[in-house]
Parts: sequence; C-alpha cells; structure tokens
Amino acid sequence: MDKFKITGRQGLSGGIPVSGSKNSSLPAIAACLLTEEPVTLHRVPKVRDIGTMLKLLEHNGATVEHLPGGAVRIHAAKIVNPEAPYDIVKTMRASSLVLGPLAARTGVARVSMPGGCSIGARPINLHINGLEHLGATVYQEHGYIEASAPNGLRGATVQFERITVTGTEDLMMAAATAKGTTILENAAREPEVVDLANLLTAMGANISGAGTSRIVIEGVERLHGAEHEIIPDRIEAGTFVIAGVMSNSEVTVENCVPEHFAALLTKLRQAGARVEESASSVQIRPVNRLRSVDMTTEEHPGFATDLQAQFMALMTGALGISFVTENIFENRFMHVPELARMGANIRIEGRQAIVAGPCDLTGAQVMCSDLRASASLVLAALVARGESILDRVYHIDRGYENIEAKLAGAGARIERVA
Ligand code: EPU
Repeated sequence: MDKFKITGRQGLSGGIPVSGSKNSSLPAIAACLLTEEPVTLHRVPKVRDIGTMLKLLEHNGATVEHLPGGAVRIHAAKIVNPEAPYDIVKTMRASSLVLGPLAARTGVARVSMPGGCSIGARPINLHINGLEHLGATVYQEHGYIEASAPNGLRGATVQFERITVTGTEDLMMAAATAKGTTILENAAREPEVVDLANLLTAMGANISGAGTSRIVIEGVERLHGAEHEIIPDRIEAGTFVIAGVMSNSEVTVENCVPEHFAALLTKLRQAGARVEESASSVQIRPVNRLRSVDMTTEEHPGFATDLQAQFMALMTGALGISFVTENIFENRFMHVPELARMGANIRIEGRQAIVAGPCDLTGAQVMCSDLRASASLVLAALVARGESILDRVYHIDRGYENIEAKLAGAGARIERVA
C-alpha cells in the first residue's frame, strides 16, 4: 500500500492545474449506456473511481478506448449484462448511477445494494422511488435491486423527499428516453447536474431547468453519439485554494470555474484570506493571520460537504473558535482524530465539530479513511512542522489525479513511497 511522505512548511508558489471533475465524469460515463453510438468525453480525470466506472461499463458490454490527449471514447453498441455487481458497487457507491440508464435502455437493471460506507449510510431509496414513478417495477432480492420496465419508462412528476445529487442524475438519464414529460421537483442544483444535462442535450435529449430545483425532461425516441468536455473539478480546485491559503503562499489555482465554489471563496474572505478570482483561476496572496469562521455544509450553492474536511484543516490554524456543522452526511468527521494526532484541538458534538485555533501542527504518522478526509490530512501535513507519513493513500487516488505531482510542482515536498 502506498504512503505519502510530506515535509511541511515549504510554502507553495506558481500555478496548480485542476483536472476534469470526477463527480461529473461518473454520470457522464453512465450516460454512454443510453445510446448504441460512441460518445467521446474529454477531460476525464485519471483517478481510481473513474477506472472502476469504466470497468463497470465494460462489464455491461461497452468498449472503452483511451484516446491520445486524455479523452475517453465509450461505445455501448449492445448491452450484454445490465448489472452492477457487488464487487464493483461496494468499492464505489456512484455505480448505482447505471440503474436509470440500464433500465431505460434495456428495460431491466440489476444493481447491488450499496451497503455501508465510511461517510454514512448512502441509501439509494430515492433513486428507486423515482424509477417506480417512471413506471418501473423494483424489487430487492439476494442483496440486489432489480428494476424492470419491459414496456419502457414513462414520464412522471418526481418530488424528491430530500435533495440527492446522483439521484437527480440517475432520474434525468432514465427520463431522457421515457415516453412523455418528466418533472423532477426538489432536484439537486450542483454544477455536475448541469454538466450531465449538457451532455444529454448534445446526445439529443430535451432537458430544461438543470441548475434549478425543477428540471423538466421531454422524453425523446432515441439518443445519439456526442462529444463533450467535462467541467473542471470544483472540489479539487477548492482543495488547492485552501492549500494556498493555509500555507500563506502566493499561488494560482488554474483551469477552474471559481463560480462553482463561490461559497468557499466567500468563507475564505470572511476568514481574512486574500483570494482573487478571474473567470478560470483563483489567485491566493499571503496575509498576516486568519480568523476563525463558522461553516455549515449544505447542498449547492451552499458550502460543499466535499470541502468540509479541508476547511476544518484550515481552521486549525485560524485564531479563535470555529463551529463546523456537517448537514449532508452523518459520519463525515473521520479526519478529526487524525488531525488531533497532528496537534489540532477539535471536539465533536453530534453533527458539529468545534475547532479551537490556532494550533501549531506537527508532522505525524496518520491514516487516510476516505477521499476528502485524506485531502485534509495532506493539507495539514503541508503546513505541519516536520515530516508526516500518510498511510492508505489509495483513498486519495480515488478522486485526485496526481495530487503529489501537482503539489510538488508548486514547491511542496511530497513523495509517494511504496
Ligand atoms: N440520500 C438518501 N437516499 C437516497 C440518496 C441519498 O437518503 O436515495 C441521502 C444521503 O444519505 C445523504 C444525502 O441524501 O445524506 C445526500 O446524498 P446525495 O445522494 O446527494 O449524495 P450522492 O449523490 O451519493 C454525491 C457525490 C458525493 C457528495 C454528495 C453530496 C458523486 C458521485 N458523489 O453523492 O461526493 O459528497 O453528492 O454533495 O457525485 C466525494 O466526491 O467525495 C463524494 C462523496
């Protein structure tokens, strides 16, 4: 198992490039199941979750071709196996994204129940309810969910009980070729939902309202091939912006869409950081001392749960008390005991973490537990005194493309050791 060896307090400088969005690429890849024609996706990041999703599509019968320049061409001429097996779903919850497209394309889909997840329960009941509204019969047997719609799906109004990102995406894909009109109420407004709507539209779908809480999909007869560029990864970008602020450096995070993480930039400014945005980059400049601010995670356009752990790492160095409230997932504080090993002063009370700063973080041996928790440990190690060893970095590899090379390119001392 690989580890990261990080020597802190080196400062950062220059530019850090941002890759394509993992959470946009995952539904985009699933959408390729909706057409028998090839779809080319540009700017798909080379991370482990994407490899897993591509493996799943190959299992379904698609061919996957990696083109020079980093694009991926996916051709689902025929679906041979409309199933997401346990071995794949257990390593990546997002594989339930194939449920809607497979049911739409073949009239049947078998997806393993996700089971437990390190950040919370991650149920898919809202995906299932939605598909039932579209006319599928769904039952559960032997740990699998089976959806069947032999006569095709039909449009309906789906009112989501709570906002779900992949649930909205799954239903949007299922509805694209359903008979009639589907209305998704209380839909997720994340940029990744808009990106998927743009891809589906390029494939011939008729979708309006993506980016608002009411999405209307007029079902079309069939979808065709398309070429699409994935949006920049707003969570990776936000992680690097926080890295720049924490290390009090002059650094630019490049090739991103700052508007997609505006809530983070607002919080950073409240804390006293100097962050200047252009249309496609964020420039960070040094300041004297940050002050603590409270933060609560919310659905987009609120503060992203996927940046909570990294923000908490930042708050360990700010002056005062910060209340960090996690509203989206019930168990997303696993970075706290590891940050404490590095000297952070954090107490958890239910869904709230209370961070007292500033702390003088010191390098330590710590354990990565999930993707974003691991990112927060990288950030802490970058500013800690001395050397840190991060164990189980395969969690980081799930969603950050070449993070060590990107940070090293900006002057960090970080290396991967086998
Ligand atoms: N929920 C249900 N029932 C459902 C679906 C969700 O109760 O059927 C609950 C969840 O348990 C959670 C809340 O609704 O408490 C929101 O979950 P959501 O469905 O929005 O999460 P997701 O779609 O499974 C995506 C991202 C996550 C990100 C969340 C929230 C992808 C592939 N994953 O997950 O990303 O944290 O939205 O923004 O898009 C990550 O990249 O590290 C990551 C975990």
